[in-house]
Amino acid sequence: MAWGAAAGYPARMSPPPFALHLAAKRSQRPPDGELVFGRSFTDHMAIVDYDAERGWFDPRIVPYGPLALDPAAAVLHYAQTMFDGMKAFRGDDGKIRFFRIDRHCRRLHDGATRLCIPPVDEALARAAIFALVSADRDWVPSSAGTSLYIRPTVIASEPFLGVRPANRYTFFVIASPVGAYAGEAFSPARILVEDKYVRSAVGGLGGVKAGANYIASLRAAEDAKARGYAQVLWTDAQEHTYLEEVGTMNLVVRIGDEFVTPPLVGSILDGVTRDSVITLLREWEFQVSERPLGMEEIVSAHRDGSLREIFGCGTAAVITPVSALGWKGEDLVVNGGEPGQVSRRLFDAISAIQYGRAPDPHGWTTLLD
Ligand code: COI
Repeated sequence: MAWGAAAGYPARMSPPPFALHLAAKRSQRPPDGELVFGRSFTDHMAIVDYDAERGWFDPRIVPYGPLALDPAAAVLHYAQTMFDGMKAFRGDDGKIRFFRIDRHCRRLHDGATRLCIPPVDEALARAAIFALVSADRDWVPSSAGTSLYIRPTVIASEPFLGVRPANRYTFFVIASPVGAYAGEAFSPARILVEDKYVRSAVGGLGGVKAGANYIASLRAAEDAKARGYAQVLWTDAQEHTYLEEVGTMNLVVRIGDEFVTPPLVGSILDGVTRDSVITLLREWEFQVSERPLGMEEIVSAHRDGSLREIFGCGTAAVITPVSALGWKGEDLVVNGGEPGQVSRRLFDAISAIQYGRAPDPHGWTTLLD
């Protein structure tokens, strides 16, 4: 069954059901204590194909396994691909909750245009995620700090080496039971301020979840690790002065009682956790500014004692406190190297909503059924 404007379907009609081709044999989920981020995958995956004539068609749930790709598939040569990342949580009540599924599906949809990928309708992405997690509900772990990480991805599958947008795509969703992103949840990280490499420039791909952004980040991250830092703090492409993101996360800095996060100027991802953090901070009556923040201001706030907290926020780790910033051969230690009070409060508040332990006044969670 086709789905998409090319096939004459109105953009917002309800999506077709996913055909179920279930695995004959189920695998054993690893014990919760042994979960490593993104290492093991559930029994199934959701797949939908696209071609220029039919639009998105043939939505199905199939056993998890390798995709058959022509070696000339455009994604393998020119990286025409994007993804999103979201989570489902099993609460103390045993219920499965998606966190901000609508916003993740909207971001997947909205980012496609920049990459000349046909947008996956939000309702179709949502239906794929629901169908997959329904089939693999036993894979949603239940121990504290665990969740099911869900990875919707679109790849250009047309075999063609000319440089132009592909005519064929595959949208798939896979899912992985996970514990903390990096070893231990909420563990402080030493971060090196990057003044050589660039993750993205304004006008580049930084505002969308393109696979290319992550490969662009690896050299700097590896060099930082070799120098004893966990990750880099990205600075702007022109002057290497204004702060952008931290590793794969959005950045928030507390100076006095103002929380500053860099504005979404095109080189920075519109993070879902970033939005949740801003919303909670404003409710807690802190001043939140989306404004440019230069290293000069950080150094001077460090000097006068008003640099109180720095943290990264993202889906995988939720909140990662920054214990020190490496800058021009020196370490600027933040809050004595300890996580800030508000960082902790945010981590606890977001986790409590995700696991259904706290009320959800914003409607951020969606029950599986
Ligand atoms: C996130 O935490 O939101 C990320 O994007 C990390 C992911 C690429 C592993």
